[in-house]
Amino acid sequence: MSEKEIEPGLLPLNYYVNDSVFDSFFPEQIKKISKVHWTPLAIAKKAASFLAPVPGSRILDIGSGIGKFCIAAAHFFPDSEFHGVEQRKDLFNLAIEAQQRSEVNNVQFLHGNFTELSLEYYDSIYFYNAFAENMIDVARIDESIDYSPGLYAYYSNYLCKALENKASGTRLVTYHGYEHEIPIGYKMVEQDIRKPLKMWIKE
Ligand SMILES: C[S@@+](CC[C@H](N)C(=O)[O-])C[C@H]1O[C@@H](n2cnc3c(N)ncnc32)[C@H](O)[C@@H]1O
Repeated sequence: MSEKEIEPGLLPLNYYVNDSVFDSFFPEQIKKISKVHWTPLAIAKKAASFLAPVPGSRILDIGSGIGKFCIAAAHFFPDSEFHGVEQRKDLFNLAIEAQQRSEVNNVQFLHGNFTELSLEYYDSIYFYNAFAENMIDVARIDESIDYSPGLYAYYSNYLCKALENKASGTRLVTYHGYEHEIPIGYKMVEQDIRKPLKMWIKE
């Protein structure tokens, strides 16, 4: 067993509250970019408390990366269901490994582009500025995929339309997002400017 492999039931006590501890189970390159690309645990907890207002809530993380949001949210809200869709296969694989070492079974990761997935199943959506990588002069996860402002516009419009089609009462949390990406009809009901975290409900 390698240094960082752990047996089920032996997670460090602060695994879900200390970002460095959670991140320490990932490869060096993934740890290095954590502050910029993966949701901090405290943010995941706060976002999930809004996204899962009742047991049985079904939440999708669009662009789930290494699975940090889904796994932390699922730990804090074990009676809800968290799904994550991720386009990069290597990150999807890391999320599956992280799920196996974490003590959560209310998480499911899907590999693919979010445009291949219907949002119909979900009560709530989490969105950590996943398309920003396509803009110029931004920090990128890697150079393994094509980026372009055209893709940014395509994905943003696609998501905007999909959100428009959601039922009244749908909940959305954006972290580091842009307000112009959110369709009319979603009302911001809470925000934490310092984070910057915004909570929305479709009217
Ligand atoms: C800022 S990271 C957030 C990761 C995760 N949601 C979290 O909060 O820890 C955004 C992720 O979205 C993924 N992504 C970007 N565009 C995507 C798309 N069109 N379909 C699926 N995943 C996408 C990226 O590969 C990246 O892993």
